[in-house]
Amino acid sequence: MRFNDTRAAENAMLHAAKSAAGTAIDRGETSMPAPKKNGGPRPAEGEKSIPGGKTVLVEIADGIAWVTLNRPEKRNAISPELSAEMIAVLDALEPDQRVGVLVLTGAGNSYCAGMDLKEFFRASDPLSAEERAVFTRASAQWQWRRLSYYMKPTIAMVNGWCFGAGFNSVVACDLAIAANEASFGLSEINWGMIPAGNVLKATVATMNRRDSLYYTMTGETFNGKKAAAMGFVNEAVPLTKLKKRVTDLAKVLLDKNPTTLRQAKHACKRIIDMDWDASEDYLFAKIDQMRFLDPEQGRQRAMRQFLDEKTYRPGLGNYKRDA
Ligand code: COA
Repeated sequence: MRFNDTRAAENAMLHAAKSAAGTAIDRGETSMPAPKKNGGPRPAEGEKSIPGGKTVLVEIADGIAWVTLNRPEKRNAISPELSAEMIAVLDALEPDQRVGVLVLTGAGNSYCAGMDLKEFFRASDPLSAEERAVFTRASAQWQWRRLSYYMKPTIAMVNGWCFGAGFNSVVACDLAIAANEASFGLSEINWGMIPAGNVLKATVATMNRRDSLYYTMTGETFNGKKAAAMGFVNEAVPLTKLKKRVTDLAKVLLDKNPTTLRQAKHACKRIIDMDWDASEDYLFAKIDQMRFLDPEQGRQRAMRQFLDEKTYRPGLGNYKRDA
């Protein structure tokens, strides 16, 4: 009797999620083209090869690293193996000279179905508190710490289902573009959990109080358009235009001075938790730091091009980095 009740509730939940998400995902229309195995450009002699290749695929093209969560048969749920591979991939791509921007997406019709309920939750239930801390550390490492303060700009390209822990990487990436047809949900409430592992922190950092409470408490799904309207992602576009839009955005970032871009995005994230005095001091310190760190001395070049040579207008575009 208990089992039947549970099954009925699960089926009702699944049905509700599917109908709320519309029919596009059910029909498999949100599938991204299958990414290549890690067989993109081979590293030149002396360069390190990229790890991954099983649960995480990497393709590098024109300065963009396309990193794909690759467990489509499990809707790209995060397993311990995937976390370990992601950490290795992120660490390898950070200093890789071929990479200027990192894009994170999912294989098939899903971006990420959250933590793997079997391989992560059920597997860690019998562990001691200490063992669980070690077990869970890797997933927090890549989803939050590494991505949040990555040395290169990051874009989450949300192509389909995005549940629970899937929110972490969307928020940790600097920018996020979703397909209109993508389907987001804080489904934890539907299975006796709360959005932990900083999922809730990521949610309240991007969505307003009312929306955060609403979706945390109802577990209702919302689509890409709604995610954009709430400010959870920057923008939503039809799935057929998703890769092109993300590529164009990445190209804008690739044109910027990478040192300035890094300082700007890190500052943007760090000053939120500072008071005004600390923030002012930190930002001035960042400016001083950049005078030493920027190999192309962009600020001097830009001032020369605007004030002396009158060849560009900072209000309307980037200075010429090769002039
Ligand atoms: N953990 C473990 N396995 C998962 C999973 C997760 N988070 N999400 C999907 N899967 C597995 C399913 O168990 C199933 O495995 P099986 O083929 O061995 O039975 C497979 O992925 C396909 O899932 P299915 O539910 O049949 O796909 P669907 O396309 O009909 O529905 C979802 C997709 C995402 C709506 C549905 O899988 C789902 O609700 N997943 C859980 C989402 C969630 O609550 N995540 C929060 C975790 S914090």
